Amino acid sequence: MQWLDRPLVLVGLMGVGKSTVGKRLASDLGIGFIDADEEIETAAQMSISEIFEKFGEPYFRDGERRVISRLIDGTPRIIATGGGAFMNEETRALILTGAIAIWLDADLQTLVDRVSRRNTRPLLRNGNPGEVLARLAEVRNPIYAEAQIHVRSKDGPHNRTVLAILEALARWHG
Ligand code: S3P
Repeated sequence: MQWLDRPLVLVGLMGVGKSTVGKRLASDLGIGFIDADEEIETAAQMSISEIFEKFGEPYFRDGERRVISRLIDGTPRIIATGGGAFMNEETRALILTGAIAIWLDADLQTLVDRVSRRNTRPLLRNGNPGEVLARLAEVRNPIYAEAQIHVRSKDGPHNRTVLAILEALARWHG
């Protein structure tokens, strides 16, 4: 992908596979991969759950915005963001102007199945994950839709989603 002159930023709900798909996409393209959530944890020397508990969500969102702005520096790389990052107006503007946003999307049941494998997400601890995700989808999907590219994450191997992204990118570039 010789033409790529900016980062590709994966956005979308928890459980959609942004990190897994992002890593494979980066390795296929021969470029770097960075997980914004991991960067925030490293910078804070704390897990995301601990940040939410000790300092609250607004503090986390601020750190998220700062980390993402640092990562969008013109280097072509893949950046996986946490599901709420793109909801912050400033973060979204940074992504849309300095990168290419790719909205990874999947049906609710697939997301519920995938998030049930880990218990590290503070937003899913209060209540039924299916209900929380359905509510978030309703609010967030119209905003994720501002991404330049929309790809539906396929059931089954993540490689199929990687391929779908590569095809969508080629179409987008024209
Ligand atoms: C969040 C998603 C999480 C993480 C935090 C908040 C959200 O990332 O950033 O728990 O608001 O949707 P993943 O989407 O990688 O799970």
